[in-house]
Amino acid sequence: MERWREAAARLRDAGMATPGLDARLLLAHVCGMSPGQALLLTSLDADQDTAYQNAIDRRLAGEPVSRIMGQRGFWKHDFGVSPATLDPRADSETLIELTLRIVTHQRWREQPISILDLGTGTGCLLLTLLDELPNACGTGVDISDQALETARANAARLNLTSRADFVLGNWFEGLSGPFDMIISNPPYIASSDIPQLMIEVRKYDPLVALDGGTDGLDAYRQITRDAQKHLVAGGWLVFECGAGQSDDVLKLMHDTGFRTSDATLSRAVDLAGVERCVAGQSQ
Ligand SMILES: C[S@@+](CC[C@H](N)C(=O)[O-])C[C@H]1O[C@@H](n2cnc3c(N)ncnc32)[C@H](O)[C@@H]1O
Repeated sequence: MERWREAAARLRDAGMATPGLDARLLLAHVCGMSPGQALLLTSLDADQDTAYQNAIDRRLAGEPVSRIMGQRGFWKHDFGVSPATLDPRADSETLIELTLRIVTHQRWREQPISILDLGTGTGCLLLTLLDELPNACGTGVDISDQALETARANAARLNLTSRADFVLGNWFEGLSGPFDMIISNPPYIASSDIPQLMIEVRKYDPLVALDGGTDGLDAYRQITRDAQKHLVAGGWLVFECGAGQSDDVLKLMHDTGFRTSDATLSRAVDLAGVERCVAGQSQ
């Protein structure tokens, strides 16, 4: 397909990391086809051609493919994204793996459990867990009303509305509980590092989803301070954290009364070998 080759060459010349893949995904998106089918096309009609050139121009300006397409694959499903939500990251699948490991360890797969997701964004973490755990129900909290609209739409698309509740608030504000598990991927970038982030992140992810304060740990301090009150005895708090933050976050959890010494349940590494998630049990 000539148009795809031209688009891939433009992206490659601009230094994009995955030009062929980006050009193929965007072609499939504007044609409403799978990526494999789209490459079999011999030509585009005028509307498709215009839409494709627009999509490639947006990518050349630094917009991530997922934002142009309005969705991102996470775990087993596609999640709608919007300007108010973080673009879900593959690294965050580590939190899903660790949470499921804890649920299995606790023998909680057969009993009703409740999960609180603080800073839910698209809802990708909570909704993935509810999809994996038919015995669970959950609440997703966010400070952004627009992010919650996206999360609710994702819940509806996955037929999870009856088990997922989405609440506007500042972390635990207005919540009662107690919950069996609290999960969170809070903002964790140090404020001074934000200007150096890649354009895809700096310009397109909302600042409120990134900025973790002076040392990146503000949200962990706020959440660990109040988490015990909102957990059942023996409940778990599971965090995603940034590279190099795991020991600091575990210390915050330990200092607020969580048991964090289980080698297989308290730490999890992502596919790049970065210690990406930490967890502690209330006592
Ligand atoms: C790093 S994003 C995580 C989004 C999603 N959970 C994920 O993993 O893709 C952090 C989220 O926390 C939300 N947030 C930031 N400060 C908050 C606060 N004080 N209370 C509730 N949510 C907050 C942001 O709006 C954003 O959606």
